[in-house]
Amino acid sequence: PVTAVILVAAGSGQRLGYGIPKAAVPLGGEPILMHALRGIVASGTGSQVCIALPPGEDTLRRLCEDFRQELADGGPLLSIVDGGATRAESVRAGLAALMDGIEAVLVHDAARALTPESVFHRVTDALAAGAAAVIPAVAVVDTVKTVAATTGKDAHLAPEVVTGTAPREELRAVQTPQGFHLDTLLKAHEAARGLDQNESAAVTDDAMLVEMLGIPVHVVRGSTQSLKITTPLDLILAEGLLEGPLG
Ligand code: C5P
Repeated sequence: PVTAVILVAAGSGQRLGYGIPKAAVPLGGEPILMHALRGIVASGTGSQVCIALPPGEDTLRRLCEDFRQELADGGPLLSIVDGGATRAESVRAGLAALMDGIEAVLVHDAARALTPESVFHRVTDALAAGAAAVIPAVAVVDTVKTVAATTGKDAHLAPEVVTGTAPREELRAVQTPQGFHLDTLLKAHEAARGLDQNESAAVTDDAMLVEMLGIPVHVVRGSTQSLKITTPLDLILAEGLLEGPLG
């Protein structure tokens, strides 16, 4: 299918603590965004790459425009849009800027700047084989529990108490790029407009919206190199990966 990539880069990056948008934080001397962008183009995945930037982020915008000049003829069309207040709104801003003829969309987090090309290809291969929704994921190494705030007579013991343990072999840590047939993703985001504020805040990826429609979401193998750069520790790991990828 004719494919576009929506690169969401409009987050505030507060958890990194740099005081600038995460996409602008330097990694190996270049903003995180540029690593993500080069990765997408190197994978040869999209006919169009639509970047959602923080509104008013002129430096990143200029870098994207310079990159557009750098792209040889035959490279993807590069579009730049203002992101929204939530990740889902940034995705919708990207959807609104897609060119005619697009049949499938990959939504990718700029924060996963070091995603290997092989992950892009596993996602697009599954789309080409007919899957309407595909996500990359990896096994979970930690035991994952649900918790709630401790109340009543035990409240002084500890702030939280366990409410359950999810069976680890069934759990996956989900990554991007997440791939969708365009009509499926449009339908999912249309349905998302009907969610109340609490429900919207609980939506952390696009696949969740597709799941709510009852459409199967297929899972391909992700990569540990596809880490989401969120904390200063992640940035150290990412710098290390730039020096030399793991095997
Ligand atoms: O905040 P979170 O870690 O879920 O962000 C994931 C990705 O979504 C990041 O790449 C971030 O830049 C993007 N995002 C966005 N617009 C927002 C919030 C997050 O494009 N309003």
